[in-house]
Amino acid sequence: MLERKQVILGVSGGIAAYKAVQLLRLLTKAGADVHVIMTRSAQEFVTPLTFQTLSANPVHTELFNLISEQQIGHISLADRADLFIIAPATANIIGKVAGGIADDMLTTTVMATKAKVLIAPAMNVNMYTNPIYRDNEERLRRLGYLFVPPETGELACGWIGEGKLAAPESIFEAAMAALTSKTLNGQTIMVTAGPTREEIDPVRFVSNHSSGKMGYALAGAARRRGSRVILVSGPVGLTAPPGVELVRVESAAEMREAVMARVGECSVVIKAAAVADYRSVERSETKIKKQNDELTLRLVKNPDILAELGRLEQRPFLVGFAAETDSLEAGAAKKLAEKNLDMIVANDVSQPDAGFNVDTNRARILFRDGRSAECPLMSKNELADRILDHITTEFSPRRER
Ligand code: C5P
Repeated sequence: MLERKQVILGVSGGIAAYKAVQLLRLLTKAGADVHVIMTRSAQEFVTPLTFQTLSANPVHTELFNLISEQQIGHISLADRADLFIIAPATANIIGKVAGGIADDMLTTTVMATKAKVLIAPAMNVNMYTNPIYRDNEERLRRLGYLFVPPETGELACGWIGEGKLAAPESIFEAAMAALTSKTLNGQTIMVTAGPTREEIDPVRFVSNHSSGKMGYALAGAARRRGSRVILVSGPVGLTAPPGVELVRVESAAEMREAVMARVGECSVVIKAAAVADYRSVERSETKIKKQNDELTLRLVKNPDILAELGRLEQRPFLVGFAAETDSLEAGAAKKLAEKNLDMIVANDVSQPDAGFNVDTNRARILFRDGRSAECPLMSKNELADRILDHITTEFSPRRER
């Protein structure tokens, strides 16, 4: 997702410096080329060798280095960066950047860069709430510097409060958002995700294997592209991506109600949820007792939410999913037409590396006019980006009409 991106990771001297190692791993795994700059005090906590080994690039520690100064090290680094992250950022580094002080490799390179700068502060709670610090942060925010706020928790100094470095995953998410162009700015996109649960009695339900991973990946990716995102989710074990409005539901009926109540606000609806097609005719108020050798459950069809959206007079751009185990394309094309959709993402759930409960997927995207696009095996995050690329191009001509 960060393929060919040049990221500078500035590490300053706090106990949280070790977490910058995890952040570096996330960045390199996503394909970024990361160049690490460490302040002198950062090197007291983690050795440059750790960052050098994991980034596969030399670590910069000195402003005046005989080798890199051939190309004026801090300028060439600053120029080539797509994004500059400072994590952890101490009160000292933030104060220096805000005050225009450039007296080491890190502060000099920040001063010289035109790239976006993302700052993840980490410090004692009293430092964090000190008006001098607050002023510095305010000033930098006004100038367009981005911040990943620290978390509240137990701090290394023994205090409990705000100042704990944000989780590496949150900093990574903010980095991806900073590097994503806001192609869906001004849009409201609703994504449905996960399974639904159809209760039989107070302790049992009918459901399916959907993990919600595809829908959550789509919600995160849409949010990074600048859209407002409403995520209507069945019961899953995932955390909603930052900045997404989460609406939790259990049954198909609840999902229908949540979707219909909000569809008027949305320009795009992506239905990645695996809605249960049937529910129990009646729900027993008490736990059904184990009695006979056989138990017959009578099921009745659930409302088809997507089909109902397709019949709306003011229809948003509609994207459906088709999870099939056989005759994939024919089935998906039929659903696209019958449910009056703009796009459908067909995935073969009979394969172990695609569909339910795994991190990867392979799919074919079909469009209204008969065109289709192949998406070979890739992560669900990558597929989410591909799907949104298609939505962006298919959807814009409609917007102009
Ligand atoms: O017809 P089928 O259930 O296979 O269609 C799948 C698509 O329809 C998915 O996008 C799913 O979210 C949506 N759907 C729905 N309501 C249902 C069943 C499926 O919105 N009751």
